[in-house]
Amino acid sequence: MSAELLAAALESGALEPTPSAHELAVLHLPFDDLRGGSQVESRTAEALKRWERVALVGPSGCGKSSVIAHITHSQDSGLAAIPTPVTGLEQDQVAEPVHVVRHLVGTVQRLARTPPRAAVRLKHVEVTAGLPWLEAGVAAEIDEQAREVPSDLAGAAEVLQQLLDTIAGDDLVPVVVFDDTDRWRAGFGFDDPVSLRESFFNRTLRWMAEQIECGVVVAAHDSYLADGGRFDAVSDHVTIPGVGTLGHLTRLLNHRLRAAGLFDATVPDIMDGEALKTLYDVYGDRAERSLRTSLSILRQASQEALDAGLEHVNRHVLLAAAAG
Ligand SMILES: Nc1ncnc2c1ncn2[C@@H]1O[C@H](COP(=O)(O)OP(=O)(O)O)[C@@H](O)[C@H]1O
Ligand SMILES: [Mg+2]
Repeated sequence: MSAELLAAALESGALEPTPSAHELAVLHLPFDDLRGGSQVESRTAEALKRWERVALVGPSGCGKSSVIAHITHSQDSGLAAIPTPVTGLEQDQVAEPVHVVRHLVGTVQRLARTPPRAAVRLKHVEVTAGLPWLEAGVAAEIDEQAREVPSDLAGAAEVLQQLLDTIAGDDLVPVVVFDDTDRWRAGFGFDDPVSLRESFFNRTLRWMAEQIECGVVVAAHDSYLADGGRFDAVSDHVTIPGVGTLGHLTRLLNHRLRAAGLFDATVPDIMDGEALKTLYDVYGDRAERSLRTSLSILRQASQEALDAGLEHVNRHVLLAAAAG
């Protein structure tokens, strides 16, 4: 009987370790609810509504993108998110506002022409893709305004501001989202990632703060602060608290099952108590407390349990998945 729920959990996408931005928003259990207080989602959203620049700090897989998705993917957030990949910005371009501005203009133009599509990994719930602010009229206006981008900084910045104003209309705050900055860690192909980050977090963001009217939210791997990085141009750092107890992990997984459309399944239906405790220990034992890694282990273990004809994940299967 239970194996059916385990299979359903796997199939539903509830255990997906790398959901798309739109799926992240669906699956997210606010840390403000999980941990109490309003130090994460509320604090970030409020700062953005004041047109500030917020860094979300934490290790890879802790939930930075998940928080960003949750805050920005609702129609009534008051925020118009502009997901801006830093991929495509070379090391020397990051330090030069004119390149960053042109990159932003290009990003807005691309978003207006090809809005993000619905993902397909969540099988039982509808995932709304696209950008809430992107209506037909806005897309056409953006296309028109971005037709010619001057090559000088002042001219390009003026076009960018015009685009942001168009996006925001009368009652939204345009929010530039830099979410894929984990790639600025050492070992990702940049000659000098420390000075690259220094350029971005101080020079580029400072320039944006002074010259462009918008909110900014930027994901920041916690090692960026640890190795002496300064985020002077950021208005606030919000540290992602992660999961602090076994109870938190249980609640987070239960939430994901429900959010993925499995209203009948809870954690005990997919894993026994020992396996859950082991999963929590594995999460806590690793230097990077990564929910992504934990989900990936649980998904792998679930598949192996099913293949072995088990009713749920047990400690043995879980440890094998964690080792593999
Ligand atoms: N608060 C949360 N509620 C539900 N799932 C979460 C939460 N935080 C993180 N996750 C899940 O953990 C995984 C990693 O989160 P992600 O936001 O991609 O991490 P980061 O951007 O910090 O690398 C994703 O599968 C995400 O859905
Ligand atoms: Mg991320």
